[in-house]
Amino acid sequence: MNKQIEDSKKVILNTYTKFPVVFESGEGNYLIDSNGDKYLDFVAGIAVNALGYNNPEIKEAIENVVNKGVFHTSNLYWHPYEAEAATKLTNLSGMEKAFYCNSGAEANEAALKLARKFGSKDNRYKIISMNHSFHGRTYGAVSATGQDKYHKNFFPLLNGIVYADYNDLESVEKVLDDKCCAIIVEPLQGEGGIIPATKEFLEGLRKLADKNNLLLIFDEVQCGMGRCGKPFCFQVYDIKPDVLTLAKALGGGIPCGSMVVGKKADNIFEPGDHASTFGGNLVALSASTVVLSKLENKDFLKNVEEKGKQLTIGLQKLIEKYPDKLTSTRGLGLMQGLVVKCNPIDIINGCLENKLLVVRAASDVVRFVPPLTIKEEEIDLMLKILDKVIASI
Ligand SMILES: Cc1ncc(COP(=O)(O)O)c(C=O)c1O
Repeated sequence: MNKQIEDSKKVILNTYTKFPVVFESGEGNYLIDSNGDKYLDFVAGIAVNALGYNNPEIKEAIENVVNKGVFHTSNLYWHPYEAEAATKLTNLSGMEKAFYCNSGAEANEAALKLARKFGSKDNRYKIISMNHSFHGRTYGAVSATGQDKYHKNFFPLLNGIVYADYNDLESVEKVLDDKCCAIIVEPLQGEGGIIPATKEFLEGLRKLADKNNLLLIFDEVQCGMGRCGKPFCFQVYDIKPDVLTLAKALGGGIPCGSMVVGKKADNIFEPGDHASTFGGNLVALSASTVVLSKLENKDFLKNVEEKGKQLTIGLQKLIEKYPDKLTSTRGLGLMQGLVVKCNPIDIINGCLENKLLVVRAASDVVRFVPPLTIKEEEIDLMLKILDKVIASI
């Protein structure tokens, strides 16, 4: 075994099943391992590295902060990047205000607390979440996650979360009562298996939220930030949430999360209600400003849409070629899943051996979430490797 892996295993808590590879550098849409081998990356740090590796603009933005030597000031004081980053976020989303934190789970914790405070004046506290959803690993976020496997061994969970079936409005109506204050939903489920919401479902949730004075929270931690071909996934559906949670690609690789709120939710929190020591520090927001600038560029987003189409067509051809091994493809833009009949791990391991990185979602899906800068010839190469691997299984 690689010495670095051996050393790490002795001192790193065993919470991850890691692949036996050590990455030391990267260039464009490739990661480079400790032997100098290049891997084409369709994982992107699990939908994080939207601009790939060694991106000069992100490096320059961070270097500007590093050169001044102040990385963090706390949220007791203002700093030069927060207005710029939040202005981009609110302009791009058409929402009002942003709260910064460091991760997706934290963004959802903020949203859950906001929902509880919203409901507290009339004693409403229930939050409707969806089966197969994933909202993070902290207690609130994992309680809102509608998958038993993440709950097992961790009871009791946060009280007052009720679960409904995704893309099934009747199931939501069944759990809705006068104690509910919010609905939380991923417009495109990620960890649950790359399952897009139907437009009718999101429209129905919007109507239910309006009629019953609920906060509609969209968790776009994975599917937001340009990945679906618009700045935010809700814009693909043209259905606006009251609360939007973001992280992953928001910092281009630097930990950064945010809860962005619309008019219905911009006056709920007051000083003292919620906070984060590191949330929105100078390093994170300098990097975030660069990623958000890309989302202001229509050509950048058009490219995501086009590359998404190329990916779908390529995956569909593979499904036609291997009907006994592959079932279907689903997703939006550059967040796609290939539903397989075999064990996805066999495909993922085969790809790794062929210097291609892909990742699983749910138990039967191979997921593709490359950097948004992925090129036409890189998608072709990925499909060629995938073809070879599937043929060999
Ligand atoms: C939709 C969604 N929400 C929340 C999270 C949790 O984000 P984090 O791991 O940054 O806490 C994830 C992570 O995969 C996610 O996909």
